[in-house]
This record gives sequence, structure tokens and C-alpha cells, in this order.
Amino acid sequence: MNTFAMIIFGASGDLTKRKLLPALYSLFCESRLPQQFVIVGVARTAYTDASYLEYVEKEVPPFIPNLQADKVRWNQFCTHLHYFSMDPSQPEGYPLLAQRISQLTGEEAPENLLFYLATPPSLYGVVPLHLREAGLNRAGARIIVEKPFGYDLQSARALNELYASVFEEHQIYRIDHFLGKETAQNILAFRFANGIFEPLWNRNYIHYVEVTAVENLGIEQRGGYYEGVGALRDMVQNHLIQLVALTAMEPPARFTADSFRNEVVKVYESLAPLTQEDLSEHIVRGQYTASGVKRGYRQEKGVHPESRTDTYIAMKIGIDNWRWNGVPFYIRTGKQMPTKVTEIVVHFRETPHRMFQTTEGSYPQANKLILRIQPNEGIVLKLGMKVPGPGFNVKEVMMDVTYDKLGGLPAGDAYARLIEDCILGDPTLFTRSDAVEASWKFFDPVLQYWKEHVDAPLYGYPAGTWGPLESEAMMREHGADWTNPCKNLTHTDQYCEL
Ligand code: BG6
Repeated sequence: MNTFAMIIFGASGDLTKRKLLPALYSLFCESRLPQQFVIVGVARTAYTDASYLEYVEKEVPPFIPNLQADKVRWNQFCTHLHYFSMDPSQPEGYPLLAQRISQLTGEEAPENLLFYLATPPSLYGVVPLHLREAGLNRAGARIIVEKPFGYDLQSARALNELYASVFEEHQIYRIDHFLGKETAQNILAFRFANGIFEPLWNRNYIHYVEVTAVENLGIEQRGGYYEGVGALRDMVQNHLIQLVALTAMEPPARFTADSFRNEVVKVYESLAPLTQEDLSEHIVRGQYTASGVKRGYRQEKGVHPESRTDTYIAMKIGIDNWRWNGVPFYIRTGKQMPTKVTEIVVHFRETPHRMFQTTEGSYPQANKLILRIQPNEGIVLKLGMKVPGPGFNVKEVMMDVTYDKLGGLPAGDAYARLIEDCILGDPTLFTRSDAVEASWKFFDPVLQYWKEHVDAPLYGYPAGTWGPLESEAMMREHGADWTNPCKNLTHTDQYCEL
């Protein structure tokens, strides 16, 4: 049987230690990797096989829960790890890499290859060309490319063309790890395996939708990558818009890669083009500032002291189709927020006639459905129920189904699922070339606007808060509110335009 070789470019980087090796280890433990496999780490650092292993032994275990319990499996896994030191930006190393792969697989021209680009985005357009020169773009090879795929529409198109000149589309896996999350996939099951919500899932019953993906960490050690990329490219153009697509898409005719991905593209193509007013009024851009013991973004390593990179984005988008016309989707992402949460909140319309009040004398809130991606994974429906006893007061209660009631989430995270899908040749949960371009086409005017309006507001928000206060105002215009708003705060020195 052919040996499977996975070659990771960027082997000494953050993604490899935090996500890729832990994911591969969890697949290994569940016997979900091919029986014969080698993993070859590639990077510039001058490790040998032995010293790379030392690095892995030191750096990776903190990202593998309960590793201590099964040291034997871990040691077995490590025997499959190898390292090849080269500069991936230069062509010289590639013929030697090809030789090394042949030597490790015992085959002259191995076909069962998977290249993973966990490198800075600047190398995404270079590595494939060098792989081709060294004859490594073989018919059986696949390549996984991290996001952001491109820097804007033009560069994404150029990158698509470049990849198409080296590989067939079925060999190219543009990864967006949010689609590998069990709970993101569950949106599809929830919507299309249950008949009761579909009749309500449209402009007649839904007032607005919130999509939030915020984190309570800063940029950690990733200043070099993040600076100049910012939240729009890092999170919004890919992860957030994918969540919008899962929520808004029409039911695919079949659950096949093409049917599913066709529907995703249709959502992107229906996004209402952003007007000048949207660009100036309906996008709130923020950057975290120092607060208490937390550093501000401008104090992070690798960041310019006067950087105008966005670490927070909130924006209103519309979908121009029969189902969604007039229903705003408010999306937001931010670093250094009070907590880490990713969720979609579907706000249904109020009842047409209000008969009851709460015990506090207000009107019961409209129903809400929360699709919680992480943490406390599950689904919550908020309903009004009569408070037991005299009178007719109504109280909001929660009907919830959480993953721990289904036995919890499986071991290994989104990356394990996606790497396995790629090994099995299933591209369903990866982004197709037309989807990347359609998404960029929508967001490109934002980048253009910022380029042309260098003084467009960038709001400072103290690390550990829910972001710029302006994002509240944007929602209120439509009678909407964030589920986690920064209520009762006023502008202070820390909440200021930068
Ligand atoms: C990555 C972004 O794609 O997603 C990071 O580059 C972000 O900046 C991360 O922290 C969030 O992913 P998750 O799975 O931890 O929510």
C-alpha cells in the first residue's frame, strides 16, 4: 500500500503546534490516519529530526488534553514525525525535499501527498510554483491552504489562477476551520433535518440575525501576521461570512460537495452591495487599547506603535433575495473581549398583539433562537411562559439542547475533521474558488473605502470590554440590540477615536 506523506510548511509555527499536530495525533489515536504515514515538517529553522522532536515534545503537549494518560501512543505517533530544513520561498530546497519524501516513503515518485501551507500568507503564491518546478504537483497530491486566501479581490483572483495552473481544483483545499466545527455543521442539520423551523426561516418571521465570534485573547505572538491583515481579513471575510451562509442558504438539492457549495456561493452573490452610506455608517472598526494589566494592540510585539489595524469589526449586511430581503444580519468579531463566544442569534418578530406583561411590567421579549457554536455548544430557544400563580404574567425561559446531553463533542477539533476529509478526498467543507472570489467581491469596497478615507474612524476600546460603543448605535437604528452589549458605558479617554 502507498505510504501517505503529509508535508507541513510552517512546521515551527503557531498553527502547527496548537492545531495541526494535536489534530493529527487525535486522528492517529482513533486509527483514522492511513496505516502507513509520515509527517514531514518543513521550515527555515535548522532543526534535525531529533531536535525537531525535542521542540515538539516541549511545545505540543499543552495543546493535547489528557496526553499524560497515554504516553505510549504519543511516543508511537512521534516515530512518524520528520523534519526538513529549507527556505520555502526559494526554489533550491524543493528537489532535496522531493528526495527526502521519496526516501521516507520508499517510493521513487510517491503520489499520496498532502501539502499543508501553515505559513505566512506571503508564501501562498510561491510554494505551489516551486512544488511544480520540483515535479511535486503530482496527480494524487492535494494541497491545503490556510486563510486569508488573498488580500483582496484582485490578489484572490490572481492566487486562484496561480493554483489552477499548478493543480486541478479537486486537489486544492482552501481551509476555513469554522466549517470543521461540529456545531457549525449542526446548523445544517438543525435547519434541514427539522421541518418545524423552515416555514419560519424568512423575512416574514425574522426581525434580524446576529453573528458574533469574539475572543478574550489578544493577538498573542502573531503580531507579524496580524499587523496589516486585521479582523476583516482574519475573521470576517471567511469565518463570519461562512456562518452567515450556513444560516441563510437555501436547502441544497443533495448533500454533496457541489450542491452544498453552490448554495454557499448563491448567498455570497446575493449579499447586497455596500453603499457609501453602509461604508461610512454601518461598519464600526475598532482596536483594543491598554486596560489594567492588558496590553493595547499597539504595544503588542511586531505591531507598529501607530498602527491602524482593526482588531474589531461590527457591520450590518443585507441579503437581496426573496427569503431575506429587509432582514439585517449584524456581524461582529473582536479580540480582547470579555469572553470567548461564537454564536448566531436569530431574533424573531414580536407577536402582532401584546396581551401579557412580565412581572416587571414590561412586554415579553420576542422569541430568540441561539445557535451556539462555542463554548456551551448547543441550541437555545427563548420562549415566554406564564409565571405560576395568580394573574397572567409572562417570563422568558430557555429551552435548550446542549452537546453534553448528546455525549459531548468528539475528541479532536475542527482541524482533525477537515484534515481527515482532505485525506479522504471530500471537499464539501472547504471553500471553492468561486466562493472565495464572491466573498472578496463583497468585502473589497470596505478595504477600498479605508484606503481612500485614511481618516475613517478607528475606535479604541479598552481590552476586556465589548468593543466600541458606536456598534450599539448602529444596531439601535433598526430597533436591534447585541445580545452582549456594552450597556451603561459612556465615552471615556479609553473609548476614543484613534
Ligand atoms: C483563526 C484566526 O482563523 O481563528 C484567529 O486567524 C482566531 O485570529 C481563530 O483567533 C479563532 O478560531 P477559534 O476556533 O479558536 O474560534
